Amino acid sequence: MSLTAVERIRQSAPAILPSLLMCDFGDLRTEINRLEAAGTEVLHLDVMDGHFVPNLTYGMPIVAGLRKHTGMPLDVHLMISDPLKYAKEFVDAGADLLTFHVEAVADPAAVAKQIASLGVGVGVAINPSTSMERLGDCLDHCDLALVMSVEAGFGGQAFNPNAIERLRELRARYPNLLLEIDGGINGQTISLARAAGCDLFVVGSAIFRHSDYGVAIKDLTTSMGA
Ligand code: DX5
Ligand code: ZN
Repeated sequence: MSLTAVERIRQSAPAILPSLLMCDFGDLRTEINRLEAAGTEVLHLDVMDGHFVPNLTYGMPIVAGLRKHTGMPLDVHLMISDPLKYAKEFVDAGADLLTFHVEAVADPAAVAKQIASLGVGVGVAINPSTSMERLGDCLDHCDLALVMSVEAGFGGQAFNPNAIERLRELRARYPNLLLEIDGGINGQTISLARAAGCDLFVVGSAIFRHSDYGVAIKDLTTSMGA
């Protein structure tokens, strides 16, 4: 079932993934319905622990709650200091793909293998200020690389263009790896990322600051230039 979900994520590409960070947490069910009606196929969940990043969001209960209300694959972005400590609990809660940060762990390849052994997709995220060398051979064990175009932690930050060069480099080295970008994606930056070979585009403010999610997603899709 989980592997099917990763295949579904792959088949949805190129796709816009709304980031559940700026949404109305008091009415999540309505938010999910609005996003689904707007054409969303995959949800991106931003989990922050107030330690790896200075911001604090939510954990397993929200993932489990969302799981009950939607069949969409759940792409869970773990901005937490100890991803392995909670990985199984996130899988049990209904995550389909777990992405950990390379900065958070000593041996990224080992962490990727352990997450994969739980039967979900695995991704590794890298902040703009972190050297690509930190990835080592970790990507050989991953389904996805998440190239951050802002330092993880907050929505609404300015796009860091070094992500574009990173996407190009990764696309050339790993033709089948899912490439995802997260941070500062709007009508301009999405086309640059798509041209660099990106598959999945995480979007917060450009959707949630819009009164009509359908129009926001349609405009972004047009700008992306599929
Ligand atoms: C940043 C989060 C992002 C963020 C994107 O740490 O991982 O998903 O919400 O938001 P925008 O699109 O506003 O940069
Ligand atoms: Zn994210």
